[in-house]
Amino acid sequence: MSARIISIANQKGGVGKTTTALSLAQALSRKGKRVLVMDLDPHGCASVHLAFFPENLRHTSYDVLIAESRESCPWDLAILSGHKSGFDFVASDPRLAGLDFELKSREGKGVILKEYAAAICARYDYVLVDCPPNMGVLLINALVAADLLIIPAQTDFLALHGMRLIFDTLRTLNQVMDRPVSYKVLATMYDKRAGACRRVMWLLMKKLGDKMFRTVIELDTQFREASAKGLVIFDVAPQSRGAMQYERLAKEILGA
Ligand SMILES: Nc1ncnc2c1ncn2[C@@H]1O[C@H](COP(=O)(O)OP(=O)(O)OP(=O)(O)O)[C@@H](O)[C@H]1O
Ligand SMILES: [Mg+2]
Repeated sequence: MSARIISIANQKGGVGKTTTALSLAQALSRKGKRVLVMDLDPHGCASVHLAFFPENLRHTSYDVLIAESRESCPWDLAILSGHKSGFDFVASDPRLAGLDFELKSREGKGVILKEYAAAICARYDYVLVDCPPNMGVLLINALVAADLLIIPAQTDFLALHGMRLIFDTLRTLNQVMDRPVSYKVLATMYDKRAGACRRVMWLLMKKLGDKMFRTVIELDTQFREASAKGLVIFDVAPQSRGAMQYERLAKEILGA
């Protein structure tokens, strides 16, 4: 069996991409799945969240993407195992920010991750890729490699506007791909007491139909508590609303 690659992306910042990557990874690993998370955001929020500080690491996702070939790709050195969270991890690196320039003249620079991930696909059931919020070679690699793209969408009007960018990117990319990128939108930070949130949710459901996950992630302060402790939500509050909703998302994905 080969791993399913799930990229989590939205060019709008602060919509819950990193929270979704880590919480979903933990929910899947609690269901006995072998999960790897790759942090492709140069800011490294997922890495810092898990207390993997890029400055202390010799090998990161940068080394994976800059490798000359699939054979020389240092997956074994870059994969960090044994974290309490229950999944494996490849950390970010500030040098990722310079990758657009470094790979400028490299042929096939958008398919590097897809090609190299084939080397580790037998080891995992799921590879989750946490993406940066901006367009560039990192986001393209994550989208090209993805069997499924999860687009977290914060349920407010400005975030709805921000989603246009990721759909424009998908449209452009689909023109050169063999098959269109398969995606689903995940409503995040939903506050059912707020009328504006309910209206945005109604609009999203009307516009996207079955391109929306049935699971909705509501606001929950436990996400911030968990990240302050270098942990993921199931470690600090397994019965919380947030944990249960990511568990439901994992079930939805397993069923798909
Ligand atoms: N459902 C939620 N309820 C409450 N807070 C949340 C929820 N989801 C995420 N957060 C908090 O919102 C902030 C932004 O979330 P996160 O870092 O996951 O977004 P992001 O899309 O990865 O941001 P960036 O674009 O900067 O990478 C974090 O402090 C996180 O703890
Ligand atoms: Mg993030």
